[in-house]
Amino acid sequence: MENGAARTAQPVIVAIDGPSGTGKSSTSKAVAAQLGLSYLDTGAQYRAITWWMVTNGIDIDDPTAIAAVAGKADIVSGTDPAHPTITVDGVDVAGPIRTQEVTSKVSAVSAVPEVRARITELQRSLAASAETGIVVEGRDIGTTVLPDADLKIFLTASPEARAARRSGELKGADLHTTREALIKRDAADSSRKTSPLAKAGDAVEVDTTDLTLSQVIECVVTLVEEKRAAR
Ligand code: DC
Repeated sequence: MENGAARTAQPVIVAIDGPSGTGKSSTSKAVAAQLGLSYLDTGAQYRAITWWMVTNGIDIDDPTAIAAVAGKADIVSGTDPAHPTITVDGVDVAGPIRTQEVTSKVSAVSAVPEVRARITELQRSLAASAETGIVVEGRDIGTTVLPDADLKIFLTASPEARAARRSGELKGADLHTTREALIKRDAADSSRKTSPLAKAGDAVEVDTTDLTLSQVIECVVTLVEEKRAAR
């Protein structure tokens, strides 16, 4: 830990993008903890605004209705990698944002440009105020939110590996159904007009299909340290 603190003398911004089930969250949290950096799960922010829309009876199939209230939810993210938190209007929504209902609606809500503008603003301000630096994970961090990040990683894995990991997280959910749902959500996230899921031209691609989580973490920590040494 002392080592980690010493290594953080210069703030460093790390963007980690990729589709679901590639190990983004576990990797990002562990890398941030190891290097003494803050951590931001941007998917949780899109889930939180989706939860607010559902709770307030907004028609998810109506982008104009979503856009009209995009600025209403007060979303606050706690960026300690050991204990990330998320609240909406002061309510802890860490549990409710992981329900099947929110998961099935988040792609539609996050495709609305007004929603993306609002959440992107929150993300940039959190990154700018992170004193030691931050690991930000999402879909459009390297391309749109933080195009000047010191290091950009794009995590990939085969659809089979991603579905197996997700169904493990969901305590044995049916593999075939999980795979189909993942592919559908990735297709929606990759094909939307405003800042789709995409690899930045200067991102390092890491295929995690045959790697353990520890190997992926080690790989990213090494890449951050190399970047730091080169500055
Ligand atoms: O990482 P996750 O599965 O919790 O993300 C939930 C959804 O949020 C995902 O389907 C796409 C969207 N998202 C996004 O559009 N942009 C981001 N930077 C992060 C997530």
